[in-house]
Amino acid sequence: MGLLDYQKIKQDFPLLQTKMNGQSLVFLDSAASSQKPQRVIDTFANYYRCRNANIHRGAYRLSYEATDLYDQTREKIARFLNARSSIECIFTRNTTESINIVASSWGDANIQAGDEIVISELEHHSNLVPWMMLAERKGAVLKHIPLTDDSRYDYTRLDEVIGPKTKIVAVQHMSNAVGTIHDLKQIRDKARAVGAMFSVDGAQGACHLKVDVQELDCDFYSLSAHKMLGPTGVGVLYGKQELLEAMPPFLGGGDMILSVSKDGFKAAGLPEKFEAGTPNIAGVVAFAVALDYLDQVGLEKIHGHEQEILKYAYDELERLNGIILYGTREFAERGAVVSFNVEGVHSHDVGTILDEEGIAIRAGHHCCEPFMRKHDLSGTARASFYIYNGPEDVDALVRGLVKVKEIFKSVVPA
Ligand SMILES: Cc1ncc(COP(=O)(O)O)c(C=O)c1O
Repeated sequence: MGLLDYQKIKQDFPLLQTKMNGQSLVFLDSAASSQKPQRVIDTFANYYRCRNANIHRGAYRLSYEATDLYDQTREKIARFLNARSSIECIFTRNTTESINIVASSWGDANIQAGDEIVISELEHHSNLVPWMMLAERKGAVLKHIPLTDDSRYDYTRLDEVIGPKTKIVAVQHMSNAVGTIHDLKQIRDKARAVGAMFSVDGAQGACHLKVDVQELDCDFYSLSAHKMLGPTGVGVLYGKQELLEAMPPFLGGGDMILSVSKDGFKAAGLPEKFEAGTPNIAGVVAFAVALDYLDQVGLEKIHGHEQEILKYAYDELERLNGIILYGTREFAERGAVVSFNVEGVHSHDVGTILDEEGIAIRAGHHCCEPFMRKHDLSGTARASFYIYNGPEDVDALVRGLVKVKEIFKSVVPA
């Protein structure tokens, strides 16, 4: 695995140097939240130590400087996504909030009874429940892009769900449950052909893949900093300027107004219109450092490295009997998320035994209950890999699974 010096990268992450249950920590849950490099942690702590002040409001230097730092991250994320302008990037708390802004603010203003909202059978609850709520409020209809047997969008059946009544198509970039990377351009073209909007849940996208919102020509793209080496509590909603300008505010309060009288208010322009109240300033400031880190390593290299790990993980896991692997074997359409079950063992038991070995995976429905129900699964075990993982982490996982087998007598190495 020569694309990335992942061992050197690992040294930048203090938590990865620690022990868990007496063993070196093997962290395989980055799809839930990535670990943070020291420089991100330092920037966050330094902000409170040396820079802390509220933004926009103070008539003093600390406040001006905090405002500058906050705005610098906006410039950075705009460059990272190749947005036309930084005012197209709204800071939110996370992907969930970003999608809720679209579903509530754009949705309430534009969706009528009988309109159709298209998602897929593989969406995370964050890109499902807000649309369900909108459909319920408006009497609209929710439609699902069907999946192939190997959990890809069935592109041959798009015409069955995307049609003249479709007002918005809202899909994920990459699946957190089974790792599929979707062909967004095909979906976008179908959406455009019927005049529908196109919104992308990029929670698992921007952390692993180079995203160019202009090339992708999406209307909205939502992401979470905590999955991209940044702090928790910071998200971004990218939206095309003309759309954001036409949308009503999401939350009301301080900072999102131009003026207020007893009779009403005038909303501020972008981006403040969607950033009511005091934001997570320290988190936003530290997010800039995470973006620099990803830029320095390079998203193409990160994706290439993850592809190598994915293939290695498949080779090794397929050598064990009694492991059921989910998702496509077309690795070009797949990120480094390995979803599996051990025959006869509940995924939570797999997780608990691996935890005793210092291996952190996720177990359960991964916030994708409709997908799990479709496959009659109570859940899966999920190992997800990132910039700091290497083949030795896969080896540790395999040793852990052999231990699961010893305990449950169900997995036998071939
Ligand atoms: C595909 C996908 N969408 C949305 C989310 C929600 O992200 P957040 O919890 O940061 O809002 C996640 C989180 O795991 C995800 O994987």
